[in-house]
Amino acid sequence: MKQSSTKLFILYAFVVTLILTAIGFIIMPLVTNNERLIVFLTLFCGLIIFLIMIHQIMDRYIKPVQSAATAASELVKGNYKVRTYEKQYGDAGKLSNSINMLARFLQETTIQEKIQGNQLRTVINNMESGVMLIDERGYVNLVNRKFLQLFGRSKKDYVGYLYYNVLEQESIHRAVQEAFLYEEKVKNAFTIEMEIEKRYLEIVGAPVFNETRTLKGAVLVFHDITDLKHLEQMRKDFVANVSHELKTPITSIKGFAETLLDEELDDLALQQKFLKIIYKESDRIQALVHDLLELSKLEKDEMQLHYQHVQLSEDVNQEILPIIQHQAENKNIQFIVDVEDDLTLEGDLNRLKQVFINILNNAVNYTSAGGCIYLNVKQIDDTIQIEVRDTGIGMSEDQIPRIFERFYRVDKARSRNTGGTGLGLAIVKHIVEAHKGKIEVHSRLEEGTTFTIHLPKTRQYL
Ligand SMILES: Nc1ncnc2c1ncn2[C@@H]1O[C@H](COP(=O)(O)OP(=O)(O)O)[C@@H](O)[C@H]1O
Ligand SMILES: [Mg+2]
Repeated sequence: MKQSSTKLFILYAFVVTLILTAIGFIIMPLVTNNERLIVFLTLFCGLIIFLIMIHQIMDRYIKPVQSAATAASELVKGNYKVRTYEKQYGDAGKLSNSINMLARFLQETTIQEKIQGNQLRTVINNMESGVMLIDERGYVNLVNRKFLQLFGRSKKDYVGYLYYNVLEQESIHRAVQEAFLYEEKVKNAFTIEMEIEKRYLEIVGAPVFNETRTLKGAVLVFHDITDLKHLEQMRKDFVANVSHELKTPITSIKGFAETLLDEELDDLALQQKFLKIIYKESDRIQALVHDLLELSKLEKDEMQLHYQHVQLSEDVNQEILPIIQHQAENKNIQFIVDVEDDLTLEGDLNRLKQVFINILNNAVNYTSAGGCIYLNVKQIDDTIQIEVRDTGIGMSEDQIPRIFERFYRVDKARSRNTGGTGLGLAIVKHIVEAHKGKIEVHSRLEEGTTFTIHLPKTRQYL
């Protein structure tokens, strides 16, 4: 640009010099020798003044306008970094200033747009739901990371294709068609088969409009509701299980009560026998209701442990061992205890007692006469380790992970005979985890079982 204005300057200078020389040639023969010097000097001064003026005009008007024109064409090309001369005078200066302001404004706007675009992309990609955007002709424009996680394959397998060619689910097609047809939000649920498991998805399809309310496409959002479905199923199973558990004792109580009422029983011994059964069955209902209430209390989010300073050795020796000792003696089982002295920990005493009683009860219940139970409580670094080992019936490897489920029993009849509700270990697990502890099980069929519980000595807040 500088070169072209220099050329222009040289051209103008040449033309002016030419004109003045021509004037000189015309005037010189007409004047006397003395006057020639004056004419020459006048013409020469005129040339200098002209050249200065041309230079000034070039510098103040032509150059800025040229520079502004170049800047404007760069802006059109999208190069918003370009700037033109500033600090010019007059209208050309105003023009330069305006062009620079425009360039700065465009540059800022594109930076903002880039930031916003990045933010939007980050949000869409990190959403917990899958997103798919399709245009008004049905071509996929965008899919996010979660979508790819749910449906597999990569972005290039979807973007640019018709949605019904890349997704075979009928419900998706329906959602898109309804969103286009009715121009309002639609909700559908469907399942997809993943490699190993089934996933339940909910799809929400919404039409996308532009400013003039013309349909520009549709956005589909896929929510993974598998966990919710599982919870729902668990709740249903739980209600079915509870009803089932209650049904047996209630039927039995009702039957014996009816017999007692209907028939004239003279046999007092038989009457007693029936009443005892009724008593035992109502005991079972009471135990079940008790355990259910315990579980529901433990499961409430606001479950608060009443932390206190527990003298573990003392409490175990005084309050738990006598009960278990008694049960073990009744069944002719040896109970061997090794509790370190002066163990203390921060925890909820009543809940911890439940843990001991439930685990030791199980050991007694699932060990046959002549067997042995060991209780070992000791401190290892910052944790208290409680180990309960028995030489009982044990269980197989595949049953171990299930025994903490509510109502799961390896042998239903055996558990019922011992008054078990099938909830004991579920309660134990809750309590141990609420104390931020861990529970482990090792067991071998016909050989015995070991439960090991690790509890932090001090309260953990995380
Ligand atoms: N020490 C153990 N030895 C063998 N099996 C056990 C032992 N403890 C628990 N189990 C198994 O785990 C199941 C669940 O235990 P629990 O939740 O306490 O319920 P239950 O009321 O049946 O005792 C029991 O039914 C039993 O089959
Ligand atoms: Mg039990």
